[in-house]
Amino acid sequence: MAHSVIDVIRAKRDGGRLDDEQIDWVVDAYTRGEVADEQMSALAMAILLRGMDRAEIARWTAAMIGSGERLDLAGVPRPTVDKHSTGGVGDKITLPLTPLVAACGAAVPQLSGRGLGHTGGTLDKLESIPGWRARLSAAEIRAQLTEVGAVVCAATDGLAPADRKLYALRDVTGTVESIPLIASSIMSKKIAEGAQSLVLDVKCGSGAFMKDQDQARALAAELVSIGDAHGVRTSALLTGMSVPLGVAVGNALEVAESAEVLQGGGPADVVELTLALAREMLAGAGLSDVDPAEVLASGRAFDTWRAMISAQGGDPDARLPRAAHVETFTAPASGVLTGLDAYAVGLAAWRLGAGRARKEDDVQHAAGIRCLAKPGDPVTEGAPLLELHTDTPEKLPGAREALADAVTVGTAHTPAPLVLDTIRP
Ligand code: URA
Repeated sequence: MAHSVIDVIRAKRDGGRLDDEQIDWVVDAYTRGEVADEQMSALAMAILLRGMDRAEIARWTAAMIGSGERLDLAGVPRPTVDKHSTGGVGDKITLPLTPLVAACGAAVPQLSGRGLGHTGGTLDKLESIPGWRARLSAAEIRAQLTEVGAVVCAATDGLAPADRKLYALRDVTGTVESIPLIASSIMSKKIAEGAQSLVLDVKCGSGAFMKDQDQARALAAELVSIGDAHGVRTSALLTGMSVPLGVAVGNALEVAESAEVLQGGGPADVVELTLALAREMLAGAGLSDVDPAEVLASGRAFDTWRAMISAQGGDPDARLPRAAHVETFTAPASGVLTGLDAYAVGLAAWRLGAGRARKEDDVQHAAGIRCLAKPGDPVTEGAPLLELHTDTPEKLPGAREALADAVTVGTAHTPAPLVLDTIRP
């Protein structure tokens, strides 16, 4: 049946629902270039304003998966399980989590992205390790999953091409913040990756896409429902992102912190979230009798990390890049640190060179921030609170400006739980 894109746009604009045929056609026609960017922009805005029901979202996701290929992991001799985070500041959890869950007996195919805006990207972080290669073929992914159990690499070009095109369009048309579009975007890529089960880390707070808990919960429910509809065992942890995760924010700094966690150290919040996500992933993979805390303490996860980095050409023993300039940002008052705004710290790290303004920009691997105190810690006026790392000192004033209102100091701090809820089908 021939469709008119204008009819599809009008139907959604006027608050109607799109039927299966309309969805399949419009996603396919957009991927092939038959529907123009300006037409898809109008449809994306109509979806943002009018929403989609569960059946529409499931079909839209299926159409985006169908726009490309699905990674075939059938020959991998371990249960396959993946995790996805909706993105935050200092969120390096993929780095210790992937080898940990592999060391517990699962195979973890982590197809990851690069940072854009104030949140970092896993590939940018790992590329600070000399020699490490992000691009692997499907055959290399399968071989590494069989031999090492853990892969972190770039998504292959054939996975969900409709999403790649649509995401770039949404980014420049003010249509990112739509739960149906975010949920279908994330899940089309994750389902195309072919893992049998999936755990989502849905973040909420100033440093996250979803600033409030109700929105984050609604997104988590949508993600879990899409996974379920596609036969992928899916659950979600709702986690706080008002404060940066851990001490380090920025590429090489986060790699160093992850290696500390894998060697039995590292910040308490990073260890807590790594173990919480590992437990949920192991439950999804049918391995809930394995204790990830014990495996972490044994050093086996660190061995898997080294094997995973080496398999992709990286030298796990190489010295990580260090910034040419390190300055401190001091506490504005004495007392107890009550707030360290995740968004402001992420923005400051980005301005120091840790992130990129346009896709084609390079990142500074050594740039970023180290938080010398976290909420609940005592601080002294004028004493160092943050370290600012950059290779280009002209970036320091912009970072300081971003941090102007980031810090609050009071007399007492009530800690908020890191894991706020677990959402299962
Ligand atoms: N991450 C994605 O992959 N897609 C979105 O739409 C938002 C976050």
